[in-house]
Amino acid sequence: MSLIEWTPSLATGQMEIDAQHTVLVAILNRLHDAIQGGEAEASTKLILHELVEYTHYHFESEEALMERVPPEVAKAHKANHQRLLDQVLEFQGQCERGEIHPQELLQFLKDWLMLHITGTDKQLAATLVKNREPA
Ligand SMILES: [Fe+2]
Ligand SMILES: [Fe+2]
Repeated sequence: MSLIEWTPSLATGQMEIDAQHTVLVAILNRLHDAIQGGEAEASTKLILHELVEYTHYHFESEEALMERVPPEVAKAHKANHQRLLDQVLEFQGQCERGEIHPQELLQFLKDWLMLHITGTDKQLAATLVKNREPA
């Protein structure tokens, strides 16, 4: 079983954002499978690294879209991204040092991604729709 099932309830309605979220979900599911399957630590570290890299890319893409939203909305959302990035880097460090149980890491990442999607991105997507350039 996957760690996260992509369901329509996770969609924000912004195609580019949703496509990138499905990639994040897929990376997390691969990490889950690697850990559950008892794969070597090196391969889980590699997937975790990929997750961090893709997260950077994803946050930058979202931030580029934010030119269309009020500055205070963009500022708050960017601060939220920085917090999420700091958290994931901290967990990555703990994982590298063997200070955290892999199951704990998975639970953290699952909550982390869900919080990002449902907690803030849905709101961002709604604001983007409201501030859409006239056709
Ligand atoms: Fe996002
Ligand atoms: Fe976001």
